[in-house]
Amino acid sequence: MHMPKLNNEFILEPLSWENLDETIAMANAIFPYNRSATRGPEYSYRMHLKDPAYRGEARYRRIGYSEFYLVRESHTGQPAGVIGYLVYYGKQGWPTAWLRWFGVSPDFRGRGLGTLTLKWVEKRLLKKGFTSIKLFGSSRRCERSAQAMYESRGYRVFRTNYTRDAPRRVFIRRKML
Ligand SMILES: CC(C)(COP(=O)(O)OP(=O)(O)OC[C@H]1O[C@@H](n2cnc3c(N)ncnc32)[C@H](O)[C@@H]1OP(=O)(O)O)[C@@H](O)C(=O)NCCC(=O)NCCS
Repeated sequence: MHMPKLNNEFILEPLSWENLDETIAMANAIFPYNRSATRGPEYSYRMHLKDPAYRGEARYRRIGYSEFYLVRESHTGQPAGVIGYLVYYGKQGWPTAWLRWFGVSPDFRGRGLGTLTLKWVEKRLLKKGFTSIKLFGSSRRCERSAQAMYESRGYRVFRTNYTRDAPRRVFIRRKML
């Protein structure tokens, strides 16, 4: 299996059946509010792996393909974060790349790993011919550092919504690559 190296300390391990449980555990630790059966990381990961229980879901949601990775510290083997994207086909059939489940383990924050990982995925999408990348965000307090980071890396809010069930702002950010 090809494992891209982020630097001498970290590798990106493609999501597989072997590391699925570890990847779910890592994502759930980073996104404690997103364990939903139909929107959480496990759902995206199992759909990506073509779990028979999720048959037809990708087509229903117009998702063409996706890539997900577990970030691992090379010398200890410890999970350090998750990153991924999926390609969504709109009504006109145009593909759009969405950043999905990106975060760094609390144990590894503040050392540049988030920036490094995000830059890697941006470069990868550019190479694949995408001209922009989008993501969903919210005004939740726990997302504050993530939103600050997106803003400083050129991701601009271009659509805003208010959730019906909570006074929480939900928005879409976009960066032109
Ligand atoms: C956003 C996140 C990926 C950043 O990862 P990281 O490895 O710490 O990021 P970096 O070390 O590359 O730092 C990126 C930038 O953010 C800043 N930053 C990092 N943590 C910060 C914090 N707690 N407060 C303020 N700024 C912070 C850094 O100073 C850096 O800014 P700079 O580029 O101007 O120097 C990580 O904090 C994360 O996963 N957050 C939780 C994800 C989330 O939203 N979960 C949902 C919870 S509901």
